[in-house]
Amino acid sequence: MQPRIAPSLLSADFARLAEAAAAVPSSDWLHVDVMDNHFVPNLTIGLPVVQALRASTDLPLDCHLMIDDPDRWAPPYAEEAGAHNVTVHAEAAADPVMIARDLRAAGALAGLAIKPGTPLEPYFELLRGYDTLLVMTVEPGFGGQEFIADVLPKVREARRRVESGHLTLAIEVDGGINTDTILAAAEAGADVFVAGSAVYHADDPDRAVGELRELARKAS
Ligand code: DX5
Ligand code: ZN
Repeated sequence: MQPRIAPSLLSADFARLAEAAAAVPSSDWLHVDVMDNHFVPNLTIGLPVVQALRASTDLPLDCHLMIDDPDRWAPPYAEEAGAHNVTVHAEAAADPVMIARDLRAAGALAGLAIKPGTPLEPYFELLRGYDTLLVMTVEPGFGGQEFIADVLPKVREARRRVESGHLTLAIEVDGGINTDTILAAAEAGADVFVAGSAVYHADDPDRAVGELRELARKAS
């Protein structure tokens, strides 16, 4: 298992997004948090900004949509913004099976996210149509929060299902990932690690990416 690190632009300078992307050339994915002030109490960026980002970096874009009605709004991130992976929240999706089909038809990976309090069991069947499972390790909405270790059993259960051949998924964790917490997340079975403040508040963001990957590699 090759751990992948996805710096979250949420902790970067929003007036300098292209520079923030260029500051982490060794990262695997670039995580873009789209928030609509409805699904979460925060508002960030939308499709036009993601399209502009696509034109200014070669890094694969990992779009995390914390928005209502992803059935309507998610496909354009694949179709019109060339996102590599588009993740919608299970709590917000009306027809998650159809969303995954639409995203894959547009050439993107399909991701399903669950909040810390959302159980995994109801989604096992439909996760067969997905490529990525994002287990939130903080309440979605803001960067810089403390890692919630209580959600790790969900990561472990997902990993177990992948190992037994029931699912083929990248297992992503998002929230509070830093040099103190990444080991526990990796040991539980995560293989994609989103890190906002741990990367962009570091003196050398690209070195922080390398350090996180090294720690995750040791665990796996
Ligand atoms: C929070 C976002 C995260 C956020 C993580 O809702 O989904 O991607 O940027 O930030 P850190 O790594 O600082 O917890
Ligand atoms: Zn995120």
